Amino acid sequence: MPKKCCVVGFPVGHSLSPAMHNAAFKHLGLDFVYEACEVDPRNFVDFMDRVIDGEFHGVSVTVPFKQTVMDYVNVLSPCAKSIDAVNTLFFDGKTLVGENTDWFGIYMILKELVRFKRRRILIYGAGGAARSALYAAKDLDLDIFLTNRTKSKGEKLAKDFDVKYCDPINLPEVDVFVNATSIGLSGQNFLPVSEKWLRRVESVFDMVYTGTILEQTAKKIGCKVISGKKMLLYQGAKQFEIWTGEAAPIRVMEKAIGL
Ligand code: ATR
Repeated sequence: MPKKCCVVGFPVGHSLSPAMHNAAFKHLGLDFVYEACEVDPRNFVDFMDRVIDGEFHGVSVTVPFKQTVMDYVNVLSPCAKSIDAVNTLFFDGKTLVGENTDWFGIYMILKELVRFKRRRILIYGAGGAARSALYAAKDLDLDIFLTNRTKSKGEKLAKDFDVKYCDPINLPEVDVFVNATSIGLSGQNFLPVSEKWLRRVESVFDMVYTGTILEQTAKKIGCKVISGKKMLLYQGAKQFEIWTGEAAPIRVMEKAIGL
């Protein structure tokens, strides 16, 4: 019987994780299989029963379960605890561990973007994705601004991470813009900031990798655009290493997601 891994989310039909991980398993000749589990939030408890019963060797956790899932794990890794979000599950013996590899995916991207002193960054969002981005940006010691549709949530998060909060309709000039909202993920797809403001931004990193209006507009006006697929790749490579104990075949995974 192959060891089974999966991604759990709602929706999850768009996910490239099965193609990416299955290509990597195959390349290394590992007896693993990875599938997508679309789970209605009302049935998440039942899904977690299956996880706790040991049906899966490893689980990728995506929207909207990255925080909910924390109630079900036995142990949180130190960074999952600091970020307050989990995107990876694995067993250490019988202990179900909640880990966060998202921040590492973001860290790898930001590190490259700010190599030449472009250090002012605006993160849009206040969910788990934004928390991971804040953790990575703090680690790189960037000049960080945060904005969000719901002001109270944004302000609280900015306070938690000790960064500056700003109103979405009065944004400061920055070098890097990170979309950590779910805009463009399921149906709703629009530009979260004005095109005029975006024109002054050098690099745009959209965590949503479905070809958003933001990504299209940023390309059109000449920003450097980093696809959310890059983040998928780096966070997935870390997961692969956790689950298999093998070095991730990055080039194979990259190709499998069309990068
Ligand atoms: P995740 O854990 O993946 O970050 P989440 O916790 O559901 O997902 O957070 C989604 C983020 O996208 C939130 O910041 C949300 O803004 P609110 O705090 O105002 O809800 C943001 N978001 C979702 N839809 C949005 C929209 N149509 N316009 C602006 N922001 C949106």
